[in-house]
Amino acid sequence: MRKNKIVVGCQWGDEGKGKIVDLLAAEADVVARFQGGANAGHTIVVGDKKYILHLIPSGIMHPGKECYVGNGVVLDPYAFKEEIDLLTDQGIDYKGRLWVSPATNLVLPYHKLIEDVEERSRGATNLDTTKRGIGPAYVDKVARHGIRVVDLLAPERLKKKLDYQKKIKTKYLEGSADERADIDRTYNELLELAELFRPLVVDVSLALRRAYDNGKTILFEGAQGCMLDVDLGTYPFATSSNTTVGGALTGLGIGLKMIDQVLGVVKAYTTRVGAGPFPTELVDETGEHLREVGQEFGASTGRPRRCGWLDMVILRHTVRVNGVDSIAITKLDVLDSLEEIKVCTAYELNGETIDQVPLDLTRLSQVKPIYRTLPGWQSDTTGTTSFDDLPLKARDYLNFIAHDLKVDIALVSTGAKRTETIVI
Ligand code: IMP
Repeated sequence: MRKNKIVVGCQWGDEGKGKIVDLLAAEADVVARFQGGANAGHTIVVGDKKYILHLIPSGIMHPGKECYVGNGVVLDPYAFKEEIDLLTDQGIDYKGRLWVSPATNLVLPYHKLIEDVEERSRGATNLDTTKRGIGPAYVDKVARHGIRVVDLLAPERLKKKLDYQKKIKTKYLEGSADERADIDRTYNELLELAELFRPLVVDVSLALRRAYDNGKTILFEGAQGCMLDVDLGTYPFATSSNTTVGGALTGLGIGLKMIDQVLGVVKAYTTRVGAGPFPTELVDETGEHLREVGQEFGASTGRPRRCGWLDMVILRHTVRVNGVDSIAITKLDVLDSLEEIKVCTAYELNGETIDQVPLDLTRLSQVKPIYRTLPGWQSDTTGTTSFDDLPLKARDYLNFIAHDLKVDIALVSTGAKRTETIVI
């Protein structure tokens, strides 16, 4: 039976969605990306080669799969070209199977300039963004003066819209020596980039519906994590898109019924890049251990990730807001050598016990995690491919998570390679 799955990250991103999407793409005919931009970085290991894709769905690595970039994405045309060049260099044929919505908004050089200025003005309370121009591009989209892919194909309209940008962004652009402020230069570069896009533009909503009607299996690929959702995450320490399931409906123009299964990706511990509350953060040797063993450095920016214990309170929230049916647990092997493993089961705040995420961020920053300590298995699980071959204590750890969240475990990842996976 066909099963169209959506894959979402259940923490603050970097849960290892790239590998899971890559695995599931093998069973799908179509992969569609619905939000975010080049702030994401999906690392895929194929054989001995490592690829990092920021915008193009990782399904492109599978010959014959169709890949779609939806209107909910903010697309940096320069970064997109770099990825196309990478695919070409690697001999990966994308022609006739990579498509972009005309309604996708563009991230342009001035967005990055604006973000730099804004982040600097925030001073100590900056959001520590990826500096990929994501926020300012979504601001323009919502303000209804964003430049969209379709504008690339109409040079006169593009010129008019860029001239309007000059007018309304004087505060950032006028008198700036930064070349990103030079809108005429951007216009000329876009005219060249437009040729790359011309053959790729299709109505993504319509194409997906046709694929669906033709019985094709579709995989919906989320970027970032659900705690970074602009509405349901740790706002303002969030990204600017809806990273949760709802984002797929509006970001691709699909109906609810096109999604059969919601798969949440959960890293066996927690990480976060950038600023914002992180109740189970470990600023000690154990945190350092997780960072080293888990190679927790950003795929897009190389920044060291903050590391901490698994947080069930966060997971209960993201499982609920997405309606997660089953989970994929990643990086189990990173915990292999630990003597004991802690799991946060609730928070304590002013003498009160809380088992759900408080929506008031000030409260979330003040909570103290309440831990349950589980024994470590202290043996090597790397590359294990069967649940029954895992040490009993590792199975107990996984079952503890599934039981608390009332979900099934669909996959367990025990290493970076495609083959290092347990399929349940
Ligand atoms: P922005 O998306 O660049 O605006 O960054 C906003 C916040 O989201 C920052 O804390 C970033 O570190 C975080 N963020 C954005 N994209 C990712 C991602 O793909 N993985 C993890 N964190 C991300």
